[in-house]
Amino acid sequence: MKKLLCLLVSVLVPLCILVASGAQENMTAVDSSVFGKPERTRAVFRHESHNEKAGIDACNECHHVVKDGKKLKDESSEDRRCSDCHSLSDSGQAPSLRKAFHRNCKQCHEKSGKGPVMCGECHLKGDR
Ligand code: HEC
Ligand code: HEC
Ligand code: HEC
Ligand code: HEC
Repeated sequence: MKKLLCLLVSVLVPLCILVASGAQENMTAVDSSVFGKPERTRAVFRHESHNEKAGIDACNECHHVVKDGKKLKDESSEDRRCSDCHSLSDSGQAPSLRKAFHRNCKQCHEKSGKGPVMCGECHLKGDR
């Protein structure tokens, strides 16, 4: 019985992890369909390899939860789209969706002196 349980766990646990991590694994660009008629091509963003190369461990570096203007240290929101909380225009304290993306991506690139900051480096000519 114990053996069977171990076998089950050893198969099921990795399977669950695989399924849970699958969604962002193949992501190569940020979906821009929420913008209606996007002006630019989708921004390059190879989710997994980007975060690995950039050495970002905390999911809530980007997938944050904010309360009373403060980022909650132990909570993250990777089960939600940025557009669930950021609408097309500024609302309350939350910057518009476009500003939210640009600040998140560009501020870190500028601060670290690594990663693209020019329009055409993220919005490549010709969509992929
Ligand atoms: C570090 C990467 C990055 C850089 C640099 C960048 N953007 Fe973006 N931009 C994004 C992301 C991410 C989004 C949101 C989703 C998407 O468009 O793929 C976005 C969204 C947009 C949108 C709204 C969606 C659309 O296509 O209408 C516009 C307009 C835009 N960017 C224009 C610009 C312009 C102009 C510049 C240069 C001044 C620029 N971006 C630089 C990453 C970037
Ligand atoms: C659960 C809701 C929620 C989600 C999901 C969310 N945000 Fe936010 N975000 C907020 C709120 C609320 C604020 C305003 C914070 C304040 O009070 O100053 C904010 C502020 C920001 C800011 C400006 C402050 C800062 O940290 O520099 C950026 C940039 C930002 N969000 C980017 C993003 C991006 C990118 C995503 C998706 C990866 C995202 N947010 C997902 C709620 C959310
Ligand atoms: C550098 C910023 C950043 C970090 C760090 C990050 N993500 Fe994301 N992730 C994004 C953006 C941007 C999206 C697209 C959000 C949107 O379209 O609203 C996304 C989307 C996702 C999605 C949805 C995928 C899909 O295809 O719809 C999942 C799941 C996810 N991230 C999980 C994670 C997990 C788990 C971590 C931590 C191990 C993490 N993310 C760390 C930026 C980030
Ligand atoms: C917390 C910091 C941080 C955030 C947030 C961040 N980046 Fe980066 N990014 C980096 C660093 C560091 C590098 C350089 C990695 C290396 O050494 O190759 C990089 C490199 C890149 C590159 C070039 C290398 C590659 O993976 O193709 C692209 C494209 C890029 N970032 C897009 C984005 C977009 C789009 C966002 C927002 C959705 C974003 N980044 C958010 C830190 C960040």
